[in-house]
Amino acid sequence: DRLWTDRTRLAGRKVLVTAGGTVERLDPVRYFTNDSSGKMGYAIAEAARDLGAEVTLVSAKSSIPLPSGMTVVQVQSAEDMYHAVMDRLDTMDLVFKSAAVADYRPAETAPQKIKKSEETLTITLVKNPDILEAIGRRKTGQFVVGFAAETENLEEHALRKLNRKNCDLIVANDVSVEGAGFGTDTNIVRVYDKDGLVEAMPLMSKKEVAGRLLRLAAERMTRQRV
Ligand code: CTP
Ligand code: CA
Repeated sequence: DRLWTDRTRLAGRKVLVTAGGTVERLDPVRYFTNDSSGKMGYAIAEAARDLGAEVTLVSAKSSIPLPSGMTVVQVQSAEDMYHAVMDRLDTMDLVFKSAAVADYRPAETAPQKIKKSEETLTITLVKNPDILEAIGRRKTGQFVVGFAAETENLEEHALRKLNRKNCDLIVANDVSVEGAGFGTDTNIVRVYDKDGLVEAMPLMSKKEVAGRLLRLAAERMTRQRV
């Protein structure tokens, strides 16, 4: 109905989506990354675009083609993503932090290919900046949706992340459950706000999940601005 349409319309709203898995380089031919396919983030970016939003997609490595009809910023590492996001945060209305950001990176990136020598090789990793936590500290009215990939204690871990990172909503999935993990076309998510469970979605396509997440965010943004 019309009321629903009005409430969920994102025309003119600026939406920032991060997606994919960051790439943390060890040397010119080797890197650390993760299993993220980018599918969830790209589906969110496309759903926002289809609702009339002006979308900026900050994408790390993904296994699917880049979507059209939006501004795409391609990045490699967590540090690159941090700068790409922070440079644009001020002008945004809504942020989806769906990228799988590497928690650590090699302390040094070798300028030349590392040669084999000893029987063991020790690589020191250092912590990456937490982009979502930085957004939570820096935000000025943006509605921020974080993600939590867990293999146990979903609710407890998700709520702790929501609070620590000052998100408005957090989308949690148990990546050890079939149909909800990295790379699949489907997902099973639970959405929480600071008061607890908002919506438990059954197994559905990432496209459907994206539509529902956009609806939830749009309803709540409107409410916040009234
Ligand atoms: N995130 C981020 N920057 C990082 C790490 C994570 O912005 N350096 C974001 C992710 O994009 C996601 C949320 O934080 O929206 C949660 O990521 P997750 O890996 O589940 O949580 P972590 O806080 O990294 O904790 P842990 O991996 O120990 O569970
Ligand atoms: Ca992590």
